[in-house]
Amino acid sequence: MCGITAYVGTDDAVGGLLTGLSNLEYRGYDSAGIAVKNGRGLEVIKREGELDRLREAVGSERPTGGIGIGHTRWSTHGPPTDENAHPHTDCSGRIAVVHNGIIDNYDGLRTDLAAEGHEFRSDTDTEVIPHLIESELETGKSPADAFRAAIARLDGSYAVACLIDGEDVVYATRNGSPLVLGRADGRYFLASDVPAFREYTDEVVYLEDTDVVVVRPGGYEITDPNGIPVNRPVETVDWEPEAAGKSGYPHYMLKEINEQPESLRQTLHGRVDALAGKVDLPEFPPGTFEDVEQVQFVAMGTSHHAGMYAASMLTAHGIPAHAYMAGEYADCPPPADGRTLVVAVTQSGETADTLNAVRRARSAGARTLAVTNVVGSSVTRECDDELFIRAGPEIGVAATKTFTSQVAALTLLGERIAGDVTGVASAGARDLLAALSELPGDVQQVLDDGTAREVAEALYGCDAYFFIGRGPAYAVALEGALKMKEISYEHAEGFAASELKHGPLALVTPETPLFGVLTGKDETKTLNNLKEVQARGAPVIVVTTPRHASAASFADYVIEIPETEPEAAGILANVQLQLVSYYAADLLGRPIDKPRNLAKSVTVE
Ligand code: F6R
Repeated sequence: MCGITAYVGTDDAVGGLLTGLSNLEYRGYDSAGIAVKNGRGLEVIKREGELDRLREAVGSERPTGGIGIGHTRWSTHGPPTDENAHPHTDCSGRIAVVHNGIIDNYDGLRTDLAAEGHEFRSDTDTEVIPHLIESELETGKSPADAFRAAIARLDGSYAVACLIDGEDVVYATRNGSPLVLGRADGRYFLASDVPAFREYTDEVVYLEDTDVVVVRPGGYEITDPNGIPVNRPVETVDWEPEAAGKSGYPHYMLKEINEQPESLRQTLHGRVDALAGKVDLPEFPPGTFEDVEQVQFVAMGTSHHAGMYAASMLTAHGIPAHAYMAGEYADCPPPADGRTLVVAVTQSGETADTLNAVRRARSAGARTLAVTNVVGSSVTRECDDELFIRAGPEIGVAATKTFTSQVAALTLLGERIAGDVTGVASAGARDLLAALSELPGDVQQVLDDGTAREVAEALYGCDAYFFIGRGPAYAVALEGALKMKEISYEHAEGFAASELKHGPLALVTPETPLFGVLTGKDETKTLNNLKEVQARGAPVIVVTTPRHASAASFADYVIEIPETEPEAAGILANVQLQLVSYYAADLLGRPIDKPRNLAKSVTVE
């Protein structure tokens, strides 16, 4: 969490910094701040609250200067207050630092620095960094050496950008937290993520862990921690800046829900030969997975649900597969060896729990593969292989289009793994791939159907919402409940349909609508579960294909999805449930793109 940005040019840094922070707000939004270097020294302005409060403060005392750093915060150490907002400074106010991540050894460092006479003004771990730099400068080191020496004393994860008065330079580094450099006609940007500066440039350098970058108005230099130059390629971003804007939608979430025909098209593009019934993933030459004995998915939240979905499909192909919550996996790792393929599913590629699970898996000798949306993200550096879901930037905190693209990409990967392990394409491969090819059009039909909105209008504001399903539809039920709770703040739970009678049924009342996801071939048992629910007076909403039209006879609402293969149907049902949650949250007046207490990229455990 937290977003950092920096601007190095000769003109107004404040404009570039505020644009960057506004584009990074999805990474945290409980306080924000900037520091700008000019003839008067460093000017720091920071405010608790959303970015508009910083904008107001900047409006009345806008600092001049062409070099600056900025931060948008999601609190980890200390509550959101003006004092805890970044940038943090040293005793003299000559050094300003923004930081994303966690400094594990900050307590000890703070004690040592306090003993040297340094006075601290915040509760944050970050504040030790400017004081460490100050302490190193006092030993006579140059600013660049003092920055490197201070960073060498940190344990933990960090992306850091720093201004030192007297130097027309931004110093920055990363270790376990993302940092990218953008280059545009003599202006340079640093940020936690490319959307921060995409409207200024498409030329990007993805920095690697331990890289130190020194950026001046005339250029930049990247070195290792010892000052030895390293070369990082300049890459061109292949998406337009509008892809990260709202394009007229009231919320990013609605925009991203509506982008799914396109995002799925991108995910599948060039990877499906429906006529031949073949998956084409050139990343993985034939036989890549032939010695895989079991597959373990590690992921959190929505990505975990995508992993569950994929695990049930692989299991159906006869390949032992299980989805683990990455946080649990790291604490309590299951047996794994060289014949275990561990697939890390993470939209951002930065989730700390997932990265840790990958490290665990590697230390057990397992092969690791990242399924992610973000090129250059940490998970791609940690894993042996990678498969990009190509969903385009997702800004809304609640994941939508990345879930459907994850499931589509994992479906292709699953077919490849099953094919390599068994030596033949799965029995239903041709039908499934044909169904995937139709998916963008099918999703468009779902988006054009207004039933989800009608259901939300009829049922918002009830006591609780329950979701049930079997097999892959269980993962869809869990995801439907997660979306409902995170953006509407209503109580919502997902259950395996088989579990309902073993306890959860006690919660069912006329005030607790229950959504049944019926996407399997034979849903007789789930239909019976739904009858039991309706008999207890709860409104029943069925999300299903015309194949299960009989459900209409006892459901209060039917949300229909186009007829397709069961493995693809879950994706369509999920889109309908995204819409129900979105409209319910909107009717309840919730801040849909920035749900309370949540951040998009969870880089702490
Ligand atoms: C829910 C949501 C979170 C993320 C989770 C993992 O809408 O977005 O549950 O899915 O924090 O994030 P990634 O996929 O970035 O690892």
